[in-house]
Amino acid sequence: MAPMQGITEAPFRNFFDRYFGGVETYYTPFVRWEHDGIRRKDLRDVSPENNHVPMLVPQILAGSLNEAEQLLAQILPLGYRRIDLNMGCAFPAVAKKAKGCGILPFPEKVGDVLRVVERHPDVSFSVKMRLGYEEPDECLAVLPVLNVANLACVTVHARTGRQQYKGECDRESFRRFAEGCVHPVVYNGDVATREDCERLAEWMPGLGGVMLGRGLLASPWMAAEYRAGKAWGEAERQARMRLFHAGLFDHYAQTLEGGEKQLLMKMKTFWEYLLPDADRKLHKKIHKAQKTADYTEAVFHLLSGEK
Ligand SMILES: Cc1cc2nc3c(=O)[nH]c(=O)nc-3n(C[C@H](O)[C@H](O)[C@H](O)COP(=O)(O)O)c2cc1C
Repeated sequence: MAPMQGITEAPFRNFFDRYFGGVETYYTPFVRWEHDGIRRKDLRDVSPENNHVPMLVPQILAGSLNEAEQLLAQILPLGYRRIDLNMGCAFPAVAKKAKGCGILPFPEKVGDVLRVVERHPDVSFSVKMRLGYEEPDECLAVLPVLNVANLACVTVHARTGRQQYKGECDRESFRRFAEGCVHPVVYNGDVATREDCERLAEWMPGLGGVMLGRGLLASPWMAAEYRAGKAWGEAERQARMRLFHAGLFDHYAQTLEGGEKQLLMKMKTFWEYLLPDADRKLHKKIHKAQKTADYTEAVFHLLSGEK
């Protein structure tokens, strides 16, 4: 499961794993250094007592060895021995500081961050990156420093930072990178169906894996169905979706401060991505709801297939 800030947080991952599953590795949204440490909210999100998935990999956003060490000093004591290094974030505020995908035009800075790998031989590191910040061949210039690091895998979102989340994924540039990379390479970007996963495996038999983001939120059963080799029935999909939603809703109703307004705001962020092919009017009703009763009624109808 791809990391998505504000979405694939601990409650989402836990309920997802309980009701859908099929996912081998869950990545946390990136954790970064702010003023004098990691935000309490981010530490809570990576804390083992709040996480109940089989394999969780905390992701850190660091622009230098020093920053990576500061972050690890707070995360490794929690017991993690797998860490993902974010070199893909395209938020302008991040990328302009040569962090996230903004680091990719500077192979020497990438090399500096990767020195953290040698310094923690007991930890297994991976990298998540894009093809480049401005151009899709920047990843090729970074290959020499990636190849000499001891990495578990490299995940590539097959876009540049300039593309953000839009426009075509560039599979040919991804293939060129994968051919030159000595580590297992994981594909990421616009994988929408179980058949897409199967086609990717045929297209590149040596692929190290597929990371699923928006497609998995649109069809949360996708990974489980891929593993099963067949589709679930519509009734099962809906039943699991209702349980998943109820779990998330109850969790946030009990834990979020700020009452109804905060609760609905949080739930609506999930609906930016969940089941986009469901009834449009009901989606609209969910987003317009100001009262919990209106929200739950719209969700009930959407998840029972009624209008
Ligand atoms: C709202 C949102 C938040 C994201 N947050 C992160 C993040 O914290 N770390 C990261 O590496 N990628 C992040 N991404 C990128 C996704 O992990 C993924 O690379 C991207 O959405 C492309 O994959 P997809 O087409 O399967 O969604 C985010 C994407 C979105 C849409």
